[in-house]
Amino acid sequence: MTEPVVDIYLTPDHADRSLRHDARVGLTGDPKWLPPKWFYDARGSALFEEITRLPEYYPTRTESSILSAHAGDIAGRTGAHTLVELGSGSSEKTRLLLHALREAGTLRQYVPLDVSQSALRAAVTAIHQDYPMLAVHGVVADFTQHLDRIPGQTPRLVAFLGGTIGNFFPDERAAFLGALHKTLAPGDWLLLGTDLVKGPEILVPAYDDSAGVTAEFNRNVLAVLNRELGADFDLGNYAHVALWDPENEWMEMRLRTVAAAKVTLPELALDIVLQPGEEIRTEISAKFRKAGIESELATAGFGLDSWWTDPQGRFALCLARTR
Ligand code: AVJ
Repeated sequence: MTEPVVDIYLTPDHADRSLRHDARVGLTGDPKWLPPKWFYDARGSALFEEITRLPEYYPTRTESSILSAHAGDIAGRTGAHTLVELGSGSSEKTRLLLHALREAGTLRQYVPLDVSQSALRAAVTAIHQDYPMLAVHGVVADFTQHLDRIPGQTPRLVAFLGGTIGNFFPDERAAFLGALHKTLAPGDWLLLGTDLVKGPEILVPAYDDSAGVTAEFNRNVLAVLNRELGADFDLGNYAHVALWDPENEWMEMRLRTVAAAKVTLPELALDIVLQPGEEIRTEISAKFRKAGIESELATAGFGLDSWWTDPQGRFALCLARTR
């Protein structure tokens, strides 16, 4: 029995300050932009959970199936002592990995890292209950800023799942992989979940489902600004847009203004004007190819060890090793 430890690297006002910064920069820019991290309040997180169960949204269940098929390979190849998980730490996928590493006999420590202290504590408690002999060391931090705080001894396996890396722009992706490589030691591992390039007939419905859940998820960012910044967005005035950008090979979500609007954000002392048809961009979700990932990993100092996909080649899990 080892009591869990939680390190906190974010000040209590971190979320509020970064939301204000992102909203001010994003809503005064052209085109307007609100980063996708602000979808995930309690309501947005519940909507995302609902998305993962939609028939059109294949990534989550596909990644889980690849992980079930190959968790044993991952454990055998890495011999990891520490499993680090970037982002959500309560999922079924974590348990697949923990189970396989425990079976392999190498697992000593689990390190979930999340920006949300409440989500992190919930994950730490749940995992501690199910794995009382495992040392659980949670970290409340932002994985775009605090990767150098990751504890644990080599060989560590850092899991970044769900295709979340797709939310980064290419320069942010390079910075993230570079910072991760810098903090890891030779012999540490990265397990990366990436959604793959495919036709828009599959991709567009995955981001524009017939039940309208993704549309509600998208508009939820405006509800977050209304609540947190006292804004007065009329959610009914913004249409959900999901489009495939074939040049950049990413899905993009936007909110299209239906009727001209003036929105007041009292907490920012800011008024903005939206023209009819004007779009606020809210997310990119990049899709990958094996050669592209392999070269981005190589640039950051990682060598691709294994590449696993589902039979339809929709999603990939790649295992890379620090060089
Ligand atoms: C959680 C970032 C992987 O990009 O597919 C789901 C978020 N956006 N539907 C994704 C999302 C619209 C999701 N990630």
